[in-house]
Amino acid sequence: MPRIRTAVFPVAGRGTRFLPATKAQPKEMLPIVDKPLIQYAVEEALEAGARKLVFITGASKRALEDHFDVDPELERALEQSGKTDQLDAIRNIVPSDATCLFVRQGRPLGLGHAVLCTREAVGDEPFFVHLADDLIHSDVPCLKQMADHHAEHGHSVLGVETVPMDQTRNYGVVAVEDEPSGAQRVTRIVEKPKPEDAPSNLAVVGRYILTPAIYDHLARTGKGAGGEIQLTDAIANLLADEPVHVLRFSGRRYDCGSKIGYLRATVEYALRHPELGENFRAYLQGVWER
Ligand code: UTP
Repeated sequence: MPRIRTAVFPVAGRGTRFLPATKAQPKEMLPIVDKPLIQYAVEEALEAGARKLVFITGASKRALEDHFDVDPELERALEQSGKTDQLDAIRNIVPSDATCLFVRQGRPLGLGHAVLCTREAVGDEPFFVHLADDLIHSDVPCLKQMADHHAEHGHSVLGVETVPMDQTRNYGVVAVEDEPSGAQRVTRIVEKPKPEDAPSNLAVVGRYILTPAIYDHLARTGKGAGGEIQLTDAIANLLADEPVHVLRFSGRRYDCGSKIGYLRATVEYALRHPELGENFRAYLQGVWER
């Protein structure tokens, strides 16, 4: 199976749960300690082998484009003041053999519509979709785990994990069956079901490998849950044409689209941070004992 070269990053959502912080910047530019969420996402995709990085941007796209562009003035200033670590940190965000493309989603009509906007940029090959607000800490990057699964079995692959039954209405939820190959195949997928309507508590998180067949389905998909064009609905139609697999990835996921998930990620990434970890742990202990 050929290596997946393209990663799609939808960053055109309104991020209403984080207003006013997201009034003039996408929520994917919010930092976890010292890197914006989107940079963690790009690093994960690069480690999985992607070299064409396609961003779907919306109204406040400037900050994001600037982040992945070179800034000669800043580089010169850091160089002159001998700040070499900081210089390295801003210089090597995207390697020279990778390309960034920016596609505009005129109006945030939903994740499915955002992905449809990338049809020309992606072309006729399988691609990753990475939602940067689902931050996943793992030994092997989640997209790499999925790429390995795809290399072995082919087909579309959805990153999934079990969630408490009372949270199914926040996710796309799947029913699966075992295949003789050892892979698990989706038999049903529903967007944001009530617990009593959910086919299971196996939820799709923000990691996908999709075959280009998804685009025809997206083009035919109307508004679904929440009045948005949903990627889940297009995947549900894809099931009739070809197998779609799930991967129960290993790793810890932080839902950084919610304030509590964002705070958890901030605390745990700070505790793991090579320069800050020890000091921060001592500080937290102090807070706890106060
Ligand atoms: P969310 O469902 O988290 O929505 O989108 P949101 O608008 O970003 O945030 P809230 O709920 O208002 O706080 C999931 C992902 O899909 C992207 C978002 O940027 C996020 O990465 N998205 C969503 C788009 O790119 N376009 C859309 O029209 C909708």
